[in-house]
Amino acid sequence: MAATDIPAFPAGFVWGAATAAYQIEGAVDEGGRGRSIWDTFAALPGKIARGDTGEVACDHYHRYRDDVALLKDLGVGSYRFSVAWPRIQPDGKGPANPEGLDFYSRLVDELLGAGITPCLTLYHWDLPQALEDAGGWRVRDTAERFAEYAGIVHAALADRVPMWITLNEPYCSSFIGYAEGRHAPGAREGHGALAAAHHLLVGHGLAVQAMRAQAHGGEQLGITVNLSHVTPATQDAADVAAAARNELLLNRVFTDPLLAGRYPAGERELWSPISDFSFRRDGDLELIGQPLDLLGLNNYFPSYAKHAPTADEDPAYRVATDVNVVEAPPAELSRTAMGWPVEPAGLGRLLRWLRDEYPGLPPIYITENGSSYLDALAPDKSVDDPGRVAYLDGHLRAVRDAIADGVDVRGYYCWSLLDNFEWALGYAKRFGLVYVDYPSQLRIPKSSYHWYRDLIAGR
Ligand code: FCB
Repeated sequence: MAATDIPAFPAGFVWGAATAAYQIEGAVDEGGRGRSIWDTFAALPGKIARGDTGEVACDHYHRYRDDVALLKDLGVGSYRFSVAWPRIQPDGKGPANPEGLDFYSRLVDELLGAGITPCLTLYHWDLPQALEDAGGWRVRDTAERFAEYAGIVHAALADRVPMWITLNEPYCSSFIGYAEGRHAPGAREGHGALAAAHHLLVGHGLAVQAMRAQAHGGEQLGITVNLSHVTPATQDAADVAAAARNELLLNRVFTDPLLAGRYPAGERELWSPISDFSFRRDGDLELIGQPLDLLGLNNYFPSYAKHAPTADEDPAYRVATDVNVVEAPPAELSRTAMGWPVEPAGLGRLLRWLRDEYPGLPPIYITENGSSYLDALAPDKSVDDPGRVAYLDGHLRAVRDAIADGVDVRGYYCWSLLDNFEWALGYAKRFGLVYVDYPSQLRIPKSSYHWYRDLIAGR
């Protein structure tokens, strides 16, 4: 599969790679960093596969220069990373910790020196533990604290960072963290998870306001949502209705307020048994729907929704993600090591759905897309990952087709530059273009890295 066979992308298209702080940095007790909900969650027995934690991760905190050298060699025009809030405000409030800001300032300078545009995500899930102790995203105060934090980081780095993403995947922070409990803080709630989703969006709006108020001019501000195109598993009325519920849960809870200035139709019918939505205030839709310069889109696989009985009939035990749906993808689709179905056309459908559903949509940057496979280090110290190459090839062709069809996609960031701490699944799941041999911390570019480098070089 020669990378050069992929049709040309528009001039100026941004090629990138992405990571996130807790997944790569390690050094959790250095530089004055406070504790985050992921430190706490990872220390609880049974929460993370094999008991892995982010304590050392890829040791990027100490090796960031080597990692920027890898990015430079890869030839990317931009690098998406996240700032760890507890490095900047160890307790989630109060004055900035200069050592924390200094780390990201050095990283940004290193990137600029390598000719790489920094794309900064303010929140990739590592909430300061002190804020969780005060209610976390269930309470509105966390949204206010987030805006304060955004203002601090923006004031320190916006002279050199042109791309700003407030939140990464509020779906995961709210519904996986507060309803499913598979992610930190590990709660299993109905109302609390819906409140978290709302307060994350309010925090986004407040952060955009705070940054606009002190903007230098050229910065682009946006948010990254993870969305899936949803298809009913069959044409049975029950599955068609299940697909509508899944589209509401996965996508519209976020995209309708952000992009259309409304709360999604059907939410009251779905969730009134578990929530009275009392966390909402007048004016919140205006706050959430601030004009954006970019929409970050993360996508890994499409959803095929099948009706399934709810797990808990008693509303008191219902979590917000229990919407009577199970995933039933076509059996012929292959799966990654995550068990996720591989269907590049699903990304194409999602891009067209966004365009058709939300007129006036800001330009889209695909801020994550990639795959996990069982990569192995060969005796000659190479890593051949044909599955990942095929995945990238298929998805980039789907993006290219969607652009030809009029969808305004401006960039693509591969997840991920490095193998890293894959949250509840720990280090066993590898997503990197670069293999990390954790005991030695050696970085070994996989064949997908060389493929992606050829692709970028050929543009
Ligand atoms: C996304 C996360 C990212 C990574 C990928 C595989 O949901 O944003 O940190 O874990 O999935």
